[in-house]
Amino acid sequence: MRIRSSRASLLFNSSATSRLQLFHSCSRCQLTSQTSSRPLPTFTSPHISRRRQSSWAQAVAVASNVFSNATARAAGQGDISVDPLRMVAKEMKFLTGNIQQILGSGHPSLDTVAKYYTQAEGKHVRPLIVLLMSRASALAPKSPRYNGQQSTADIDSSISPMSILSDVNPNSPTTNPISASQTSYPTTDSDILPSQRRLAEITELIHTASLLHDDVIDHAVSRRGSPSANLEFGNKMAVLAGDFLLSRASVALARLRDAEVTELLATVIANLVEGEFMQLKNTARDEKNPVWTEDTVTYYLQKTYLKSASLISKSCRAAALLGGSDAATVDSAYSYGKNLGLAFQLVDDMLDYTISEKELGKPAGADLELGLATAPLLFAWKDNQELGALVGRKFAEEGDVARVSQVSKLKDES
Ligand code: FPP
Ligand code: MG
Repeated sequence: MRIRSSRASLLFNSSATSRLQLFHSCSRCQLTSQTSSRPLPTFTSPHISRRRQSSWAQAVAVASNVFSNATARAAGQGDISVDPLRMVAKEMKFLTGNIQQILGSGHPSLDTVAKYYTQAEGKHVRPLIVLLMSRASALAPKSPRYNGQQSTADIDSSISPMSILSDVNPNSPTTNPISASQTSYPTTDSDILPSQRRLAEITELIHTASLLHDDVIDHAVSRRGSPSANLEFGNKMAVLAGDFLLSRASVALARLRDAEVTELLATVIANLVEGEFMQLKNTARDEKNPVWTEDTVTYYLQKTYLKSASLISKSCRAAALLGGSDAATVDSAYSYGKNLGLAFQLVDDMLDYTISEKELGKPAGADLELGLATAPLLFAWKDNQELGALVGRKFAEEGDVARVSQVSKLKDES
């Protein structure tokens, strides 16, 4: 969550007729675009897409190499190539369709808003990781509690009587997955269980719900290459759609009929909110003139875990549990997700400083502009105690952002 988005709120409060103007650029350089009047109906964000796609492609390439090298070494051979995207490509192909099925509502506006972010092209990193972890769990040692595979019917069939679940709901039962079991998984030759595929969908639903809420809180104007839901439909509908996604994710979760997995994913929702609350402050006590201590970094890492790593770590753990893995594998799956989530956010925070001013379209990183003290700044602050006052006032004074970004860059180059 971004706390201080003066630029975004400036734009958000502008009239509907000026909306097209907003989409000359991404949310990271919106100030520079608001004076322009050239309409650009199809919004593309060169900054976000270039930055995110290249780091994503690099991450996939590195993952492939690490895995290939390790496998080749273990097998005593060279040149075994593994593509993580291809390993779960068949399952990923059905992901968006199944999610849209889960989100179906007989209420037309709700249906549109709820599915809005699912229509955009996304990398779907979280479900991808859940599916890969699921495949890995098929090869892992089994726990004594494992009692074979679930059928697809289990995860779609209701627990309460249908008549109670649909009761006086005016929405058509045929489009409401609460009262009709419709999702199906065309058989693939993979060893991923239907419950694990459903888990991947639930993970993406929780993530998307959090984005719907986050964009309202941040007054975001764009998401996944299109106008944000709050801009397109208004704050009220965006928040309610997020709630609806959480509800449908909860129903799907209950139908997995696994209390431990339900407990894990329900905890994630609380973790996301807790992380957002922690981010409202840069330090635990939110003092005016904080002093750097080891606790500063601990606080940042805790916030980062809750906001950015809890979903993938607990989902990976849940994937291993559903796969019937033994306790050691379940713990490893959790640690893998936790470290991956933390690393992802650290790199994201670093990129906010290392992307050139020219490419970013403004003199310093967006996080600083929004008052956020992330890892590059925290490490620079350790050696430059005078930065404490700037952190305390969330870089609100003239020249603060330029000062911090200069000091952080010097630290980076040293
Ligand atoms: C993106 O952060 C936001 C998150 C990772 C989590 C947001 C969580 C909430 C709003 C709490 C409510 C949660 C639920 C499940 C309803 P960002 O603003 O740093 O990234 P961005 O640039 O993608 O917006
Ligand atoms: Mg945001």
